Amino acid sequence: MAEWHDVAALTELSPGQVIEVIVGTEVVALANVAGQIFAIDGVCAHQGGPLGRGVLSREADGCRLTCPWHGWQYDPATGRQVLSQTIRQRVFPTRIAGDRIWVSVGAVSCSSQ
Ligand code: FES
Repeated sequence: MAEWHDVAALTELSPGQVIEVIVGTEVVALANVAGQIFAIDGVCAHQGGPLGRGVLSREADGCRLTCPWHGWQYDPATGRQVLSQTIRQRVFPTRIAGDRIWVSVGAVSCSSQ
C-alpha cells in the first residue's frame, strides 16, 4: 500500500537540482528536471554512491543524473543506467501539494520507457 511522505519544500529543489532525502528507511535522490520532480533510489547500483549528491545534466536524448563517485549515469525518470539498460534503480511516485513535495515508497513505480 502506498505510503506518502512529505519530504521537502519546492523552494528547496530548483530546476536542475538534485538533493538527498530520507523517506522512511529509503535513501532517495530527488531531482527537479525542468519543473518535473523525480524520485529514484539514492544508493548507486555500482558501489553505493550517493546519487542525491550527484549532478543533473541535459543530454540530446534526455536528462542524466551522474553519480559523484565514478560517474555512472541514470535517467532520473526511469531509473535506468544509461550504458547497460539492464541495471535499473527503483523509482518512486511523487506529487506536489501546495509548496510541498511528497514521495511514496510504499509502491514502486514501474515505467515502460
Ligand atoms: S558508486 Fe556510483 S558510479 Fe560508482
